[in-house]
Amino acid sequence: MRIGMVGTGYVGLVSGTCLAEFGTEVICVDKEQSKIDKLLSGEMPIYEPGLDILVAKQIQANRLSFTTEIADAVKGSDAVFIAVGTPPRRIIGDADMQYVYTAAREIAKNLEGYTVIVTKSTVPVGTAREIERIIREENPKADFDIVSNPEFLREGAAINDFMRPDRVVIGAETDRAKEIMREIYRPLYINETPIVMVSLETSELIKYASNAFLATKITFINEIADICEKTGANVQDVAKGMGIDNRIGSKFLHAGPGYGGSCFPKDTLALAQIGEKNNAPQTIVEQVIKVNASRQRKMAQKIINAFDGNIRGKKIGILGIAFKPNTDDVRDAPSLTIIPILQEAGAIISAYDPEAKKQAELQFENLEWKENPYEVAKDSDALVIITEWNEFRALNLKRIKEIMNGNIIIDLRNIYKLPEMKELNFHYISVGREEILPNQSDKIKKAS
Ligand code: UDX
Repeated sequence: MRIGMVGTGYVGLVSGTCLAEFGTEVICVDKEQSKIDKLLSGEMPIYEPGLDILVAKQIQANRLSFTTEIADAVKGSDAVFIAVGTPPRRIIGDADMQYVYTAAREIAKNLEGYTVIVTKSTVPVGTAREIERIIREENPKADFDIVSNPEFLREGAAINDFMRPDRVVIGAETDRAKEIMREIYRPLYINETPIVMVSLETSELIKYASNAFLATKITFINEIADICEKTGANVQDVAKGMGIDNRIGSKFLHAGPGYGGSCFPKDTLALAQIGEKNNAPQTIVEQVIKVNASRQRKMAQKIINAFDGNIRGKKIGILGIAFKPNTDDVRDAPSLTIIPILQEAGAIISAYDPEAKKQAELQFENLEWKENPYEVAKDSDALVIITEWNEFRALNLKRIKEIMNGNIIIDLRNIYKLPEMKELNFHYISVGREEILPNQSDKIKKAS
């Protein structure tokens, strides 16, 4: 068994490396020579825990190789995966398919013998059939089948998600293609991982529907958090009480500053577009997109409100810039919306993120980057937690209190316990939970 992986972005690199770990020979191809050179020298283009070690192991074992020549990855391979980007197009928001279709044409020219062409990138419903048409047009004699095999990898947990998935979704319509896919995922088959064999269109839709559902779940609990704040209920307890019901489940019910990242914003937009194109409007998803965008702005307002509406000249320390922990990805991160609003209102911002500085530096103006959470806290009027990195959960809060100028902590991820913050006498504002006000004696102490 030999696999060609076209595209060494997030999905391609993780999938290719993990397939090699399954024992298959994998050849990854990317147009950018510099990217390939870096990979070969052990430098990862993305931050993903454990990926560098796995890539090195598979190169060493001669199962994983990299090339810029698509022919090397296609000729003689049993399956060729398309894992190139499908970024949202400006204005309309639907997926830009040019990289996928270009890859399909190039693959077509190099096909030799029976080959399964697999779409791994998240692609609109109907793409697999369009790729089939393109390949036939480009190479009428080609012997191939099209398969849809969407990824469900979470950044920061991608290797585990690939090796121990909840399910593998395969859209395939011939026995030959199904057989090759079963062979590729044999180690998971042995583990009794559910393999969902469906039609091409169904497989493509499962991916969008799953991501849109999760985005909806998050947005739902975020709006419930708003009710909690107004009524004195506690959103974490509400989520717990709901999540115990097996039909609901406890995951993706963490209220926060709104979802971000490379998938949910893009996939919800694309699904709304697919609905519109097919005259099957996705009004719930359309609303989720709107509510999430306004939520991020609302979080900036929450911070401004902590200063009674006037944040001019205040020093705000930000902990966490990445859209979630264990990644350096800042795509559509809530921080990108929140920080500029605070700056516009006259706040002075310093920030720390364990991994995202390099990716984020160019996105912000006048932002002072610090090397650790304590540097951020020093002399700040308020500390704002935007991303729940583990290291922020174990801060020495007594020390933080001493070195801050003010005593406000705004925790947009609910990582601290209310009694703890009460005990330390912080002015503690979180999401969907009681606001803790410092007692008067402390204020007097600070003022004197
Ligand atoms: C997601 C999907 O989980 C994955 O299956 C898909 O293939 C790609 O998109 P990812 O974007 O890496 O993965 O991150 P995920 O852990 O799903 O979080 C997405 C966003 O939702 C983050 O901004 C996160 O902070 C937010 N989130 C998640 C919440 O605000 N609350 C939650 O309860 C869960």
